[in-house]
Amino acid sequence: MSAEGALANRHIVLGLSGGVACYKAADFARELVKAGATVQVVMTEAACQFITPVTMQALSNRPVYTSQWDAREANHMPHINLTRGASAVVVAPASADFIAKLAQGRADDLLSLLCLARPLAGDRGVPLLVAPAMNREMWAHPATQRNVAQIRADGTTVLGPAAGDQACGEIGDGRMLEAEELRDELIAFFQPKALAGRDVLVTAGPTFEAIDPVRGITNHSSGKMGFAIARAAAEAGARVTLVAGPVHLATPRGVRRIDVQSAEQMLAAVLPEARRHEIFVATAAVADWRPASVATQKIKKDAPSQGAGQSAGHVPALSFVENPDILATVAKLPTGERPFCVGFAAESHDIVRHARAKLVRKGVPLIVANNGPATFGRDHNALVLVDAAGERALPPSDKLTLARLLVAEIAQRCPRRASTPATATAASA
Ligand code: C5P
Repeated sequence: MSAEGALANRHIVLGLSGGVACYKAADFARELVKAGATVQVVMTEAACQFITPVTMQALSNRPVYTSQWDAREANHMPHINLTRGASAVVVAPASADFIAKLAQGRADDLLSLLCLARPLAGDRGVPLLVAPAMNREMWAHPATQRNVAQIRADGTTVLGPAAGDQACGEIGDGRMLEAEELRDELIAFFQPKALAGRDVLVTAGPTFEAIDPVRGITNHSSGKMGFAIARAAAEAGARVTLVAGPVHLATPRGVRRIDVQSAEQMLAAVLPEARRHEIFVATAAVADWRPASVATQKIKKDAPSQGAGQSAGHVPALSFVENPDILATVAKLPTGERPFCVGFAAESHDIVRHARAKLVRKGVPLIVANNGPATFGRDHNALVLVDAAGERALPPSDKLTLARLLVAEIAQRCPRRASTPATATAASA
């Protein structure tokens, strides 16, 4: 999904400490600028061994700072000036040595100095995020783990690291996240945590109802709206489970995904999960019917059908049975096991009237109506929220923006279950 404008009006101080991952920081700076942020790069001496300030200046469009003795600042205090008014300081890559410095509050170069000197609290507080990058042995070392625990306890957000191939040839934990992943983590960081610590279950995409081993019935749902809702809920601090029909979409960061094909598989995946989730958002375009029986072998044009209904010459006649209604089934769970249920209604006309009928028929507190043919497969949509109290239109926008608005609406309407811990933190890290 495009990140255009997602960091508009954000000023990011991007710190680089020494590590091969500095090459990814160049891309990260570019992603930040493309997302609308202004970027002030600060590099340690070690970082300058891996990539030049010239490259970072060109990508960020601002002079780079490398020394606390930089005379360009009138008051000679770059360690103070650079963070004042900043939206965040992001250190990527953060080396083991730099994390150790942060843990101890040492301040012997510009980057560690400005991290220590940044305002911590209140409206002027500047959050610190670090993206560790190091060899897996360095990452696993008790000293590093101690230091990471300490900076977390001090309020620093740690992004990653990921596991995988390392520049040294070893494989394991310690890789810095990729530029786009870091960008999305930062975008998520700035979202309000309206669903902090809550469990959200989402269905998305079409279902595929098999006729035989090579054929089946499906629909045009792309899954984009449901995936956007899963992402928005994770950004809002929820633990998210996404039950997805067959779609070609990447799993949003931090989201647990269960892939299914048919409506029956979707129900089987959803039911046990629904009981431990507080919120259920059913966006999947579940097939209303499925073939009454599935042929075990491909139905041949030149042979009678094999179990997919009666054959009329060489043309198989399909007969259908109704699929379970997943949303209505979840909405009938006993109180205490039943999540707050949100349904979608993809209509082509009389959108609100049909949505209101669905509200009653499915027994759910909220139906989100949209124009199905106008939105299937597209990146934009417009929604109307229909509940017992009335209607509220969410104006045309990209699906992620709408998903964030919808998540805020759901958070407002859905009271926290008594047993849910109110103190849990964001799940997107
Ligand atoms: O009336 P309709 O069944 O199309 O209602 C759509 C809503 O119900 C959507 O939220 C969809 O995900 C859900 N649904 C479902 N199981 C079905 C059919 C629809 O969960 N079998």
